[in-house]
Amino acid sequence: VIENIDIRKILDSRGNATVEIDITTENGFGRAAAPSGASTGALEVVAFPEKGIGSIINTFNEQVKRELLGINADETTLIDDTLKEIDGTDNLSSLGGNITVAISLAAAKAAASSYNLPLYLFLGGNLKNEIPYPLGNMINGGAHAGKNAPDIQEFLVVPVGAQNITEAVFANVQVHKKIGELIKVKDTLSTGGKGDEGGWAPNLSNYEALEIQSRACEEISNETGIKIRPSLDLAPSELWDGSKYVYTREGVTRDTGEQIEFLKEIIDTYQMFYIEDPLREDDFEGFAELTRMVGDKCIICGDDIFVTNSQILARGIEIGAANALIIKPNQIGTLSDTYQTVKLAKDNSYTPVVSHRSGETTDETIAHLAVAFGAPLIKTGAVGGERIAKLNELIRIQEEMPDPVMATLK
Ligand code: PGA
Ligand code: ZN
Repeated sequence: VIENIDIRKILDSRGNATVEIDITTENGFGRAAAPSGASTGALEVVAFPEKGIGSIINTFNEQVKRELLGINADETTLIDDTLKEIDGTDNLSSLGGNITVAISLAAAKAAASSYNLPLYLFLGGNLKNEIPYPLGNMINGGAHAGKNAPDIQEFLVVPVGAQNITEAVFANVQVHKKIGELIKVKDTLSTGGKGDEGGWAPNLSNYEALEIQSRACEEISNETGIKIRPSLDLAPSELWDGSKYVYTREGVTRDTGEQIEFLKEIIDTYQMFYIEDPLREDDFEGFAELTRMVGDKCIICGDDIFVTNSQILARGIEIGAANALIIKPNQIGTLSDTYQTVKLAKDNSYTPVVSHRSGETTDETIAHLAVAFGAPLIKTGAVGGERIAKLNELIRIQEEMPDPVMATLK
């Protein structure tokens, strides 16, 4: 039974304000904080109401808190429904999805703690003891870096040959270090600066960055014997001007057909393992076309297009848009809605990829969600305190599992 709830304003990794929730039960305690995006999808729930965090903390203390006291912390759906009812809108714009998601997750963590279970076991565990592969962030561009960085938002890698999570996260940081060295050789004026998610933010064109990414994967694969493959998140809604994709750094534009050609070319040339948001968020047809063309050799993942929303995902499933999707609990605002989307995805053979946001805290919850949901991939950076909080938690989870194995990648 929830005995007390506290809300506080804390910092996120960009230095912006976010909220943290503490929930106390008779014999349990749960704490969760909400992250924030920079390249958010248009149909995400509203993270914070316009009136600001100070005012929402007052509303919480005066109106929300007493509705939740006395509910069992393990009644996730009841807690989430209560929050949605108090909010009263269909996009959580009055309470803010960041407030509701932090409450929803903190309650689950309090319940887990009162049963003396880690969160992933409380949420049903993972019958096969599978650990997700980490999609490590290597180079940042687009909305996550400065104007001379590549237009492509994220250059990622997956250590597909790793035997365990420790090998996997250390393989990723070796690639990160190697890329840092290669950038300095290419750009002697490089300051070694990084973007929002801990990847390097270099003065490089898209193709220069692709070359360096690919070379680093190859060199570290050879050095370690662990196969590592390149991946991307283009976040191209940020590049779309209404009729074409504008690549400012490269000085070129691409219409939808040219964008698809460009994607096909880089998927083949660089043997891309995974491409997230290849096209703008409302181009369901384009996603379906690309998936038909390359979906057997490359994971095509939808982030801004589906925004962790089961109804929007259902539209994509109908026409075969993408074969994977990003799961970000604060895009939809509650744990139960997040789970519903994961379930729909898995029932339709879409790969769920549990993900951080560009603005993060040291909250480690998504490591548990990825394991409990049986997600074969988790995207949570490679370096930086708020990123390694999740990666190190996966190492601990692996340690306490009876016979841990890496997840199966398609
Ligand atoms: P965001 O971006 O957290 O800034 O929305 C991350 C992503 O696009 O995956
Ligand atoms: Zn994305």
